[in-house]
Amino acid sequence: MVNEQITAAVASLRKGNVIAFPTETVYGLGADISHPKAIQKIFDIKGRPPDHPLIVHFAKSAELEFWAENIPTTALMLAKHFWPGPLTLILPKSRHIPLSVTGGQDTVGLRVPSHPVALRLLEELGGYKAIAAPSANRFGFVSPTSADHVKKEFGDRIDIILDGGSCEVGLESTIVSCIDNEVAILRPGGISVLSIENVLKQKIFVRSHGNSIRAPGSLTSHYATTTPLEICHGESLFLRSSILLQQGIRTAVIVRSVREDFVQDANNKLHCVFMPNDPVRFGRDLYATLRRLDNENFQQILVEAPPDNLEWLAIADRLNRASYSFYK
Ligand code: TXA
Ligand code: MG
Repeated sequence: MVNEQITAAVASLRKGNVIAFPTETVYGLGADISHPKAIQKIFDIKGRPPDHPLIVHFAKSAELEFWAENIPTTALMLAKHFWPGPLTLILPKSRHIPLSVTGGQDTVGLRVPSHPVALRLLEELGGYKAIAAPSANRFGFVSPTSADHVKKEFGDRIDIILDGGSCEVGLESTIVSCIDNEVAILRPGGISVLSIENVLKQKIFVRSHGNSIRAPGSLTSHYATTTPLEICHGESLFLRSSILLQQGIRTAVIVRSVREDFVQDANNKLHCVFMPNDPVRFGRDLYATLRRLDNENFQQILVEAPPDNLEWLAIADRLNRASYSFYK
């Protein structure tokens, strides 16, 4: 990434434009929070409801007290330990954060990203400046993990897309609420629940769609493919694959631990994607794989269910929400 591109992106932000930039989690659609029109453009481009709050990104952890108020010790400990990095803290907002950014709420999501391009962009924008940035995808759909994903989705609507390569984490930041002296995980993500519990030396409540029961109304569709996606536990993966095959439905199957006979069978008749059986690497590849399959005209995507443990929680959460329309 050449310096001139970052300088051009900063100039564009200062003019009140929206740009796309890489973070270690996913690509973001960024606007300078001091430009109300630029904030509005983010909502317009994404097709996002106006009461859905944006995460505010800044470069220096030391500025936390400028952007938030009544910061509990737990939040300070988490910021010290995990910033820069894939952690978003929900805190009471300071007067420097416009209500348009928080969807009218008096709390704000704050994050110092670790991707070098994101950090240089924020640093060049200047001290006590911040960028509001949701993931750079249409509201409800799969997040982008490369500049190419953003270009395909919004190419004609954004002037500048900074290319920082493929995102290292590949899943969004972990969102931790530190409001009213309670710590809760609102979205599992790039930082595991266990490592947060280790830093705070306490059990943390997780409000996620991880392995929750799929009941109408209990889940909202998000991170969704346009091709219907179904999660299959254990043997049902083999059963469902053969039923769909018999019905002549063009099916892609995402697997991570499979039986030999299935692999052999699959190689001939099914489109199989073999993913790493490791949550970090699986997470890194997931969105790119879903986007690729979505572009290949399959009628159905089957995914082998992730293991039911905390390390796979963020992946289980995203897959469950992506499959929502299938179970609705
Ligand atoms: O990894 C990430 O967090 C990426 C990169 C670009 O930083 N950003 C991202 O933003 O995932 P977005 O807008 O796609 O998701 C932000 C989530 C939303 O679910 C929103 O509801 C939640 O953060 N959020 C933001 N502010 C909040 C607040 N004050 N209270 C509760 N939830 C909040
Ligand atoms: Mg998003």
